[in-house]
Amino acid sequence: MITGGVAAFKALELIRELTVRGMQVRAVMTEAAERFIARQSVAAVSGSPVATDLFSPDPSPHTELASWADLIVVVPATADFIAKLANGFAADLATTTILAAAAPVLIAPAMHSNMLAAPATQRNLATLVKDGRIVLPADFGRLAGGDVGLGRLLDPSWIGDAIELRLGGALLDLSDRRVLVSAGGTREAYDAVRYVGNRSSGRQGWAIAEAAALQGAEVAVVSTVDSPLPEGPVRVVRVESAFEMEAAMVEESAAADWIFMAAAVADFRPAEAADRKLKRDGVERLRLELVANPDILGRLVAGRRERQLIVGFAAETGSLASEVERKLATKRVDILVGNDISSPATGFGALHNQVIIADRFGGRVELPLLPKLDVAQELLRQAERVSRQLPQG
Ligand SMILES: Cc1cc2nc3c(=O)[nH]c(=O)nc-3n(C[C@H](O)[C@H](O)[C@H](O)COP(=O)(O)O)c2cc1C
Repeated sequence: MITGGVAAFKALELIRELTVRGMQVRAVMTEAAERFIARQSVAAVSGSPVATDLFSPDPSPHTELASWADLIVVVPATADFIAKLANGFAADLATTTILAAAAPVLIAPAMHSNMLAAPATQRNLATLVKDGRIVLPADFGRLAGGDVGLGRLLDPSWIGDAIELRLGGALLDLSDRRVLVSAGGTREAYDAVRYVGNRSSGRQGWAIAEAAALQGAEVAVVSTVDSPLPEGPVRVVRVESAFEMEAAMVEESAAADWIFMAAAVADFRPAEAADRKLKRDGVERLRLELVANPDILGRLVAGRRERQLIVGFAAETGSLASEVERKLATKRVDILVGNDISSPATGFGALHNQVIIADRFGGRVELPLLPKLDVAQELLRQAERVSRQLPQG
């Protein structure tokens, strides 16, 4: 469903994204949507005629569309459309189709921040959530007209991921969760421009952040690397070294309910770092002395708040299962996630991952090779389950 907001043009990007992912797309446009983008463009990108009229030559366009779809997404969803849906209007083809459908409905709001914050809009969105509709978060940033705030349409790649997550099973309600994630490999400087690092891409950490934010959590990411996707509605703290990551994680952990320590923190750093660029001239051998870095996970565990859930990660190159058991016991985390990074299919930088998830209450899950977003979703499900078992006090 495409409704009449300035972000309507981004629906074209989403349709293309969904067709690339192998989905069939049929579009319905409201009358106002046609003021923003041409029906012909939508038809060309989706490869199907666009439906707009409830009273068309088709005998019953709304029930036909409603029963055809496995999932309905409203992109963008205007304040007006949200109000109509919340009140059960069957005012046009789009609203009537949604009312007639049994399929899950995802709603991606896009409007000026004041319109989004307006009590009526908030009331309507809460009603839709209560009715079982899935309301995706709006993004923050520059809005049409020049203001900056919350209300931008979520990036189409995120909406595509939300659709895939929902098609893979029921979503979680993380709207009362504050989730902290660390991502990427730390960079340990030995002069003003060079560092010792590792190959971690941060993809698994970013996928956890995305999945949590898509399901309503307030998310902060402490990362050494940029997100592979546009950042989306998460707060990002950029760091480089283990020391910087430690400071940021300790500070951010004060407000976190769940902590995913997915970053690949270097065990060692150069003992000294020159404050200028080292010169090559005449140097044939350079010795780097390495010293141990702080144990960030250990510090978070030592300072954990009551009922705060801490998830540790172990990247291993052999004997994964026994290392997971050993680290679960010694690190005193609630969940330990082990992955074998020796395989190119699952190692650093790969798009897929294969993990073992072990928790302190004896739960063990071995997942098959999955896209990192699906691994993230399973980690969030496990976190939800384990957090319910955490003792009070
Ligand atoms: C230039 C312009 C931009 C607009 N952008 C938005 C928008 O981003 N979000 C929104 O909720 N409404 C926006 N509106 C208002 C809607 O177009 C209006 O409420 C319309 O009735 C929505 O119809 P629909 O919900 O049936 O598509 C905009 C209006 C204009 C004239």
